[in-house]
Amino acid sequence: MKERPIVSEQEMQRQREFMKLVEKLPNRPGSYHIVSMGCQMNERDSESIAGMLEQMGMRQEPVREQADLILYNTCCVRENAENKALGNVIWLKELKKVKPELMICVGGCMTQEKGMAAMMKKRYPFIDLVYGTHNLYKLPEYVYRVLVEKRPVVEVMDIDGEVVEGMPEKRANHFSTFVNIMYGCDNFCTYCIVPYVRGRERSREPEAVIAECVRLQDEGAQEIMLLGQNVNSYRGGGAAFAELLYRIDRLGIPRIRFMTSHPKDLSDELIAAFGELEHLMPQLHLPVQSGSDEVLRRMNRHYTREHYLDLVRRLRAVRPDIGLTSDIIVGFPGETLEQFEQTLSLVEEVRFDAAYTFIFSPRTGTRAAEYPDDTPYEVKSERIQRLIDRQQAISLETLRAQVGRRERVLVEAVSTRDAASVGGKTPRGHMVNFPGDAALIGRFADVEITSAGRNTLRGRQIALED
Ligand code: SAH
Ligand code: SF4
Ligand code: F3S
Repeated sequence: MKERPIVSEQEMQRQREFMKLVEKLPNRPGSYHIVSMGCQMNERDSESIAGMLEQMGMRQEPVREQADLILYNTCCVRENAENKALGNVIWLKELKKVKPELMICVGGCMTQEKGMAAMMKKRYPFIDLVYGTHNLYKLPEYVYRVLVEKRPVVEVMDIDGEVVEGMPEKRANHFSTFVNIMYGCDNFCTYCIVPYVRGRERSREPEAVIAECVRLQDEGAQEIMLLGQNVNSYRGGGAAFAELLYRIDRLGIPRIRFMTSHPKDLSDELIAAFGELEHLMPQLHLPVQSGSDEVLRRMNRHYTREHYLDLVRRLRAVRPDIGLTSDIIVGFPGETLEQFEQTLSLVEEVRFDAAYTFIFSPRTGTRAAEYPDDTPYEVKSERIQRLIDRQQAISLETLRAQVGRRERVLVEAVSTRDAASVGGKTPRGHMVNFPGDAALIGRFADVEITSAGRNTLRGRQIALED
């Protein structure tokens, strides 16, 4: 993978000027609300968007309907994600009827799909701004143009390959936070639209990543999650991902995690890192997609079932307590019952802590969308249900095996179900709820696990770490 040019400081300076100009405009929105759909990449982008909007003088409005500017950061990885985004946007048309000054912005992966921006411009003229994944940094300029020219701006760029440094940001929180290490994807799994909407793989310079981690550490980060579509193919300044991890580990941030790893590129060095690095948590999301070699081949995944199982064995040899999670696609075109059952048996053999399961969704422009598919949807639904049932039973057994253990939990939030409890994750990534109050948020607590539910653990605090 090549390193790519960084968007020039001059261009970033231009955008900073636009932020100042927008701030001074009398008709600018006073508040904003961002709806972030899809994966962590979008969540991280939304933090940059929030940062830019704040510098334009807007404040965050928690209630969508009350905001002067509503921005949808969309996903299109499966059809239902796209339908949800479009449905929401169409609904905004009604809101705009009663609130004509409302500014509606739509960006992210969906707008980057071929033909989508043109379609939106034609069919949804009430949208004020449509931009794509490659020109997010130009948001200040576009908002300025919408306000001054008083007509919609639709700009999606086809070219990609730049790395943007130095965008403003407003982080969701400071104790557990994301750091992008690379953008885009070159793998072209035959079902996946991500390479088309996020562009070619490009890595940030290790120095830029380290500098960001140091800054976040100074701001109180206890946990960082390194992000990339396939972090294993990171190559910044000639450094491989494992080397970057060793450097970050030395900073002393208590918890490091990363996602996502492609099994074909999981290096020996990275496996070794799980045995050696003090701050690397025993948790790995390693999407397998299918347990059948033939399906994996047609997915263009470049590994076999046996290779995957071997990785699992080696990871557990260096880190016996490692928690593995996965993504699985059911009903890939042409998947036979036998091939599906190979996925079931792989799930049985690996015993994932959790697996995210999806029915194959054809995405226009991808190769698999053209593959003949004669399995009825009902059959696919039955298959996924069998898989979900089996995985849930395994997840429950895994959680039950944690009862009685003492775990250090990084407290994230007050529990949604019980205001007298807080929740946070163990090193392995299991969610634990235990009695406590909001003062614990962002701190470590030692907890004894007392019971296991379907997806979470319950516990009681035994000591507080400073
Ligand atoms: N880069 C990550 C995942 C990105 S998308 C990786 O390589 O693992 C997240 C998950 O969505 C994928 O792992 C896959 O399981 C699922 N997915 C992607 N495209 C899909 C499609 N067309 N239909 C169903 N599931 C899909
Ligand atoms: Fe999609 Fe495959 Fe790239 Fe993941 S590795 S983003 S599944 S093409
Ligand atoms: Fe969706 Fe884009 Fe992420 S398509 S899954 S938001 S990279």
